[in-house]
Order: sequence, then structure tokens, then C-alpha cells
Amino acid sequence: METITEIIKLRELRRTWQISGEKISFVPTMGNLHAGHLKLVEEAKKYATKVVVSIFVNPLQFGPDEDLDAYPRTLKEDAEKLEALGVDLLFLPNAEDIYPRGLEQQTFVEVPGISYMICGASRPGHFRGVATIVSKLFNMVQPNSAFFGKKDFQQLQVIKAMVTDLSMNLKIYGVDTERAEDGLALSSRNGYLSEEQRKIAPVLYQQIKALASLLESGRRDFSTIIREAKQNLAEAGFKVDYIELRAAESLMPPSHEDTNLVILAAAFLGKTRLIDNHEVML
Ligand code: PAF
Repeated sequence: METITEIIKLRELRRTWQISGEKISFVPTMGNLHAGHLKLVEEAKKYATKVVVSIFVNPLQFGPDEDLDAYPRTLKEDAEKLEALGVDLLFLPNAEDIYPRGLEQQTFVEVPGISYMICGASRPGHFRGVATIVSKLFNMVQPNSAFFGKKDFQQLQVIKAMVTDLSMNLKIYGVDTERAEDGLALSSRNGYLSEEQRKIAPVLYQQIKALASLLESGRRDFSTIIREAKQNLAEAGFKVDYIELRAAESLMPPSHEDTNLVILAAAFLGKTRLIDNHEVML
């Protein structure tokens, strides 16, 4: 596996790949890789002759109250995992090259509407930061396809909308969430949980699934069943940010015609904010 930090070197290699007709799959990450990321890489390998993974902890997507410095950085272990999976290129840009004019002056990409609701309402500016870095990385890597986890369901839909709106020439794939045995979605943030909180954490997905079962069994009193789920989460020890039923693509509140829905939730255990979701076909 080759490791490149300079954008100019990445472009040189990309040009040689272009000439030799390689197909490029790309997995952008912020590192601290777990089995969920590795599943993205496995999926990426199926669609390409070369797989590129980037690790960049993107300051532009962190809010003022979110601790960028505390974000886990495990570069050595990450590189070993990627090497073992047969990744061709690890791209490790530094913040000065990515944001040479500083964050304040940075041109940004904003996907209106879908970026402002649900997680976007709780984390203003977050999806602007994500859309901006992902579009910059797409410009640098120029992949044929890119892979994102469905755990960050709203992020995936924001990126799909951005690719459509800006006529970007690549295909976006969403990959199913990887879970621990007790159902907890794998996330770098799980490492922040205490032993006690880790025991409670799977209740988030249990409540989402229970809600899905009620919908599948024909319940349509959405506000009642959501209120009950919220209450159950609070009783288990969560501080609920939101639990919502939305149309899976637009993420708007569902109309009677919508059949492809998604339940999305975010809740705190102490200071740790966990998110999860589950798609429901009615
Ligand atoms: O999902 C993530 O890890 C990040 O939001 C991403 C897509 C790598 C952009 O920084």
C-alpha cells in the first residue's frame, strides 16, 4: 500500500492510473477505523481495480462545542488494517494543504434543505463541512465510485444530493451498518462510553426496531408510538435529541404515498451522542 500526503503526488499517481485505464473506488474516512469502515473497503474492492482510502479529521465539520482535538487518532493501527485488506493508496492530507486560506475564508458547498433538518438542526454547519470536504476529496481523487456507511444515513443522502446537484461524475454506494453482537452500531464514538453506558447503548437500536415492528404491524398513530419510544429511551438513561420517521430519500416527514421510510434517532449517553437508523418498507 502506498501512502501519500501531498495533493500534487496524488494527482500524479491518479494520472498514471487514468492512462492505464484503472477503475477507482474511494472510501473517505476520519480514521480510528473499525469493522464498519473495513466493510466499506471490502465493498469498494468489488467495483474497482484500485482502492483509495483517505484519513482526514475534518475541522470544518466540527461545531464549536465539539472537541476536535479529542477525536481519536490511531494512524498506525489504521494503516495496518488497510494494508492487510489490500488497499492500494492511503491518502493522508494535512489541514494546511486542504484549507490553505484558513477555515474562515474557505469556499463551501452547502446542500440546502436536507442539511438543515434532523442532525443538521442539532449540529448547524455540520453538513456544510461534510459536503465541502467530500467534494474537495472527490476533486483530488477523482474516483469512479465512493462508499459511505448507512449509519450516517443523513450524511449519505446529503452526499447523494450534492453529487446530483453538482453533476459529479461518480456513483455513490451506501453500505449497511456493521453492528456489535448486541446490536449497537459500530462507531468511533462508542470508545467514549463508560462500561455502564456501553450496557445501555444497544437500547437505542432496540427502540428503533420496536418502532419499525409497530409500523410493519399496521400502526399509523405515528406521534403516539414515537412519543412512547422517546419515553422508553429516557427511562433507559438516554437524553433524546430526536427520534423521527421520515421518507427515506428526501428525509421529509412522510406523506401517505411514501412507502420507503426510515426511522432516525440521536440520543446522548452522558456527553456521547449516538445515532442510528432503520429503513422500513410499508
Ligand atoms: O463519515 C465520516 O467519517 C466523515 O463525515 C467523512 C465522510 C469522512 C467526511 O469527513
